[in-house]
Amino acid sequence: MTQNLPSGLTAGAVVAASSANLGPGFDSLGLALSLYDEITVETTDSGLTIDVEGEGAGQVPLDASHLVVRAIRHGLQAAGVGAAGLKVHCRNAIPHSRGLGSSAAAVVGGLAAANALVAQSDSAPLTDVELIQLSSEFEGHPDNASAAVLGGAVVSWTDGEGPFPRYAAAPLRLHPDIRLFPAIPEIRSSTAETRVLLPDHVSHVDARFNVSRAALLVVALTERPDLLLEATADRLHQPQRAAAMPASAEYLKILRRSGIAAVLSGAGPAVIALSDGPDLPAEAVEFGTANGFTVSEMRVGEGVRWASGVTVNG
Ligand code: HSE
Repeated sequence: MTQNLPSGLTAGAVVAASSANLGPGFDSLGLALSLYDEITVETTDSGLTIDVEGEGAGQVPLDASHLVVRAIRHGLQAAGVGAAGLKVHCRNAIPHSRGLGSSAAAVVGGLAAANALVAQSDSAPLTDVELIQLSSEFEGHPDNASAAVLGGAVVSWTDGEGPFPRYAAAPLRLHPDIRLFPAIPEIRSSTAETRVLLPDHVSHVDARFNVSRAALLVVALTERPDLLLEATADRLHQPQRAAAMPASAEYLKILRRSGIAAVLSGAGPAVIALSDGPDLPAEAVEFGTANGFTVSEMRVGEGVRWASGVTVNG
C-alpha cells in the first residue's frame, strides 16, 4: 500500500538544459549545457499550488497537468510513496520549444525533486539508471533525458522498439578544449512537428555516412577536437528539417563554411557550435544576431542535483 509522506517536507532539484543529436548522433548523443531550471517542492495536507517564474510563466498550465507536477507524482509513485498535497515552485531559465531539452529537464527535475522527498521516508530513492529509464519513458527522448541526468556528454541507446523499451546511457569525458556556443532564436518549433518531416526509410549510403560520423564524433568529443567539423556532418535529420527553420539552416551553413562545427540543437531551431578553441567568426555572429538569435558561450552542464530539506530557490 502507498504510504503518504507527512506534510511540511521540502526538497529541491537543479537540472540542466541539453542539446540532443549533435549532428549525426540522431536520438543518441546528448550534451548538457550550463543553463539550469530550479524546482522546489513542499508536501502539504491537500491540493496543489504551483507557480512558475522565468521561461514558460503565464504559458504553461498551473494544474495537475503541469509536466513537473506529473513527474514528481510519477517519481513518488515509483518509490511507493504518495503526498496528499503539493506546493511546487519552478524557476525556469531554459527556453521552451527551441531544442534545448526543456521538457526533459522538467521531467528529470521533477523526478529528482521526488527523489529528495523520498529520501526523507523509509523508501529508497531512484538511482541514476532508474532516473534515465523513467525520464526517457516519460518524455520520449533518451538523448536529452540522459544528458540532464548525468551531465556532460552522453551516448544513449534504446533496447527494444515495443511498448516497453529499455533506455540506457554512458557518459563521455568531454575534451577540455571544446567550447560551446548555443544560438537561441526567438522563434519556436515543435519537435513532434519536425519529426514528421523525417522519412521512414533511409538509404544504406546515408546510414553508412552517419554511422561513420557518429563514431568519429565520439573520438572528436573526447580526444580529437580538431575532427569536430568532419565528425558533425549529418544526413539523417538536419537536411530534412532545414526548410522548416531556414534561418537556423543558413546560420549552420555560415558557421560550417568558416570551419566551425555547428549543428542543430536537438530538433532545433536553436543551433549549437562546438569550437576546438577559436571564437566564432564575427560574420556568423552578426548573421545570428540580425536574425533573432541570442548567441552566447556556455559551459558544459552538470548532472541533475537534488537536496532534501532545503529551499533551492530564493
Ligand atoms: N533526437 C530528438 C529529435 C531530440 O531530433 O527529434 C529531441 O530533442
